[in-house]
Amino acid sequence: MTEPGGNLRPLSRQPLLPPTVLRGVRPYGEEPVDLLIDNGRIAALDPAGQGPAVHSIDCHGLIALPALTDLHTHLRQPGAEDAETIATGTLAAAKGGYATVFAMANTQPVADDPRRVEYVAEVAERTAHCQVRPVGAVTVGLGGTTLAPIEAMAASAARTRMFSDDGRCVEDPALMRQALRRAADVGGFIAQHAQSSPLSPNAQANDGAVARELGLPGWPAVAEEAIIARDCVLAGADDTPLHICHVSTRGSVEVIRWAKSRGWPVTAEVTPHHLLLTDELVRTGDTRYKVNPPLRSAQDVTALREALAEGIIDVVATDHAPHPAATKNRPWCEAPPGMLGLETALPVVAETMVRTGLMSWRRLAEAMAIRPAAIGGTAVGGGDPLQVGMPATLCLVSTDADWTVDAARLASLARNTPFSGHRFSTRVAATIIGGRLAWSADPVRTTQPTPDP
Ligand code: DOR
Ligand code: ZN
Repeated sequence: MTEPGGNLRPLSRQPLLPPTVLRGVRPYGEEPVDLLIDNGRIAALDPAGQGPAVHSIDCHGLIALPALTDLHTHLRQPGAEDAETIATGTLAAAKGGYATVFAMANTQPVADDPRRVEYVAEVAERTAHCQVRPVGAVTVGLGGTTLAPIEAMAASAARTRMFSDDGRCVEDPALMRQALRRAADVGGFIAQHAQSSPLSPNAQANDGAVARELGLPGWPAVAEEAIIARDCVLAGADDTPLHICHVSTRGSVEVIRWAKSRGWPVTAEVTPHHLLLTDELVRTGDTRYKVNPPLRSAQDVTALREALAEGIIDVVATDHAPHPAATKNRPWCEAPPGMLGLETALPVVAETMVRTGLMSWRRLAEAMAIRPAAIGGTAVGGGDPLQVGMPATLCLVSTDADWTVDAARLASLARNTPFSGHRFSTRVAATIIGGRLAWSADPVRTTQPTPDP
């Protein structure tokens, strides 16, 4: 049905799958069922294994999860198509099990007006391999001084609901309060890159022993925690929803725990890399480990894992940040921060959260699919997405793969993954979005309908 990894049509031009049974698939890693997809929806969940006369795919050994949603993706188009395009970034997403990505606004030009968010939506409609929701900037040109036309972006054909200056922090507290109110008024929210620049001038690595030994300017935890505390208070005071991007410190977790205990409308994300990697890796000098916020200490990693398991941190988001080799392979202090995330996110979260016993597959599905779609406003209904009648939007996951990541074989144009050479046992086998095949590892082998006796 498809060439492995290539020659795929964009999602909008993929036909609906014919009525198809996924035989022996295990929803959320639980009991095997025969899952019937018909007319774009989940038409039956038949534990008895007696499907009607339709195509069938042998899915024994595969887990089915609701296809994932990423609230934090940098697709780079327009302006940095040497790093990524909407087509390549969304193919990486589909390969990683994602149905929907939120495309961050720090493009060139910045997505800070209706025409520009509509441009992203239009290119996505023509070229994307998964669904794309454009994020609008909070301030004009990410300049931090003048609020962008939030209402007009929300009313545009792109129906923008998430607003973020990600890459930069909205530093001015009065402007942030205004932004939270205006986003709330259109049924949206602000996603804050929480980091006070005056508290982290020229920061290059986590403020700790490694940075001190290497003589790198430190990136203190308080620069993140102070902004999170301030913004939680603003969100609580006005009952305006706030989402906190890429939480990276133990102290941030404590602040968010406190804000949630007050019932304030605060949600938070953690990246896969902050769940696995520590600042010890900075010693290698390999700029693939340079990221914003920085890799932190082992104690921070432990706190982030526990917070995700507990639900204090709501979701995993990738912060997929492609950069071309020409800029990434510079000396540490000149290299831009960021790493690829979409194709390795699920394997990393499975390794750090499921294999460690911290989370079940069902909880992982909540953190990577169900909650992010609810926060982003793209959820269909409020219930279990793997129920009869729901759109067939799911990914099939192999948990006994032996996958060694090869950066050269990723769908992204950029190669800045820290996981090249890393072996994972979890790998996405196929992603189906609304009954359309977005991607599959192998040409899908279906057996033909059996004639009725
Ligand atoms: O590491 C990062 N890279 N963090 C960000 O906040 C922005 C991103 C980028 O755009 O490269
Ligand atoms: Zn950011």
